[in-house]
Amino acid sequence: MIKNDLFLRALKGETVDRPPVWMMRQAGRYLPEFMEIKEKYDFFTRCRTPELASEITVQPIRRYGMDAAILFSDILVIPQAMNIEVEMKPNFGPYLPNPIRSQKDLNNVIIPDIQESLGYVMEAIKATKEKLNNEIPLIGFAGSPWTILCYCVEGQGSKNFAKAKELCYTNPIVAHSLLQKITDTTIAYLKAKVEAGVDAVQIFDSWGGMLSPTDYQEFSWQYIQQIINALKDRTPVIAFGKGCWFALQEMAKSGASALGVDWTCSARNARYLSGGRITLQGNFDPSRLLSSPKVIKQMVTQMINEFGKDRYIVNLGHGILPNIPVENAAAFVEAVKEYKV
Ligand code: CP3
Repeated sequence: MIKNDLFLRALKGETVDRPPVWMMRQAGRYLPEFMEIKEKYDFFTRCRTPELASEITVQPIRRYGMDAAILFSDILVIPQAMNIEVEMKPNFGPYLPNPIRSQKDLNNVIIPDIQESLGYVMEAIKATKEKLNNEIPLIGFAGSPWTILCYCVEGQGSKNFAKAKELCYTNPIVAHSLLQKITDTTIAYLKAKVEAGVDAVQIFDSWGGMLSPTDYQEFSWQYIQQIINALKDRTPVIAFGKGCWFALQEMAKSGASALGVDWTCSARNARYLSGGRITLQGNFDPSRLLSSPKVIKQMVTQMINEFGKDRYIVNLGHGILPNIPVENAAAFVEAVKEYKV
C-alpha cells in the first residue's frame, strides 16, 4: 500500500482534505542537483542507467515532497526503439537526422520488442519504486502518437510543425500508418511500465493544439483513445493535451481518469467543457513561477478555489522552465500543502 495516496484518490474522484500536487518536468534543469548529474552524463546515458534515472526522479521529491513522482525519461525513447535515430543535442534539443517523410522511410520503422529495446526503462521503474519505498505513487508516461509523429517527421522541435502537417495533408496513408505503428508500440510500452510498477500513466500531447478541432480527431485523438482503451482497466490514465481545450468534451467520455489543461483555459470553462465530473489537472502558467513566492501562493490558493479541492490535481499547465528559482517552486508546492477549505 502507498502511504500518501492523495494522488490516486483524486484520480478516483474521492473526497480529499486538499488536492495532490506535482509539476510536469519536475525532474529538470531548474534543480542544481539535476545540473550536477547533467554535467557528468549525457541525456540518454541518464535515461538508460537505472541508478541515474531513479536518482533524478526522486531529487524533486526530496527537496519539495510532491504527492507523486514522474519517472525521468523522455517521450522520444519510443521512436528510438522503433529504429529511428534520435539525438539530444546540448543547447538545441531533440535531433532526428533521418526524418520520416515517405513510404520508403516508413518501411524502416519497426514495432520493437519492448523488453529488448526499452528494458532499461523497466529497470529504472523498479529502482525508483525501491527508492520511493511506497511513500508516494510513481507516474509513467508516453508522448501521444501525434506528438511523436511531429518529431519523427520534422526531425527537430518547431514552432508550427509545418512538415508534420504537410505529411498528414499530402500523404495521409503514410501518416496514418506511422501513427498506428507508434500507437501499437506505445500500448505495449505502457503495459510493460504498469507491469514494472508505475501507479498511473500520463499521455503528453504537447503539440495537439497545433491541429484544428477536426484534424485533432483524425490525427491525434483517435490514437490516444486506442491507448486509453488498452490501458484503462490496468491503471489510471491522465490525458494532457496542450492547447486542446476544444476537445475536453470528447476527452471526458474516453475512460481517462483525469484530463490535463493548460493556462489558456479557465478552471470554470474546463469544468464546463469536461462536464463537471472528471478529475482535472493543471493549469498554472509555468512563467508565473517567476512571480514572488508570496504572489505564487496567493495565485495557487485562488486556482484551487476555482477548480475546487475535489477531482483536482494541482500542476502547471506545461513543463517547469529552467529559469525558475528553487524557492519559487517550493512556494508552489507549499501553497497546496497549506491549503485549507
Ligand atoms: O517530467 C519529468 O520530470 C520527467 C521527465 C521528462 C523529460 N521529458 C525529461 C527531459 C518528461 C515527462 C519529458 C517529456 C517530453 N519530452 C515531452 C512532453 C512534455 C512537454 O514538455 O511537452 C516532450 C515534447 C519531450 C521532447 C523533449 N525532450 C524536448 C523538446 C527536449 C528539449 C527541450 C528541453 O526542455 O530541454 C527534451 C529534453 C529533455 N527531456 C530534458 C529533460 C529534463 C532537458 C535536457 C537534458 O536534461 O539534457
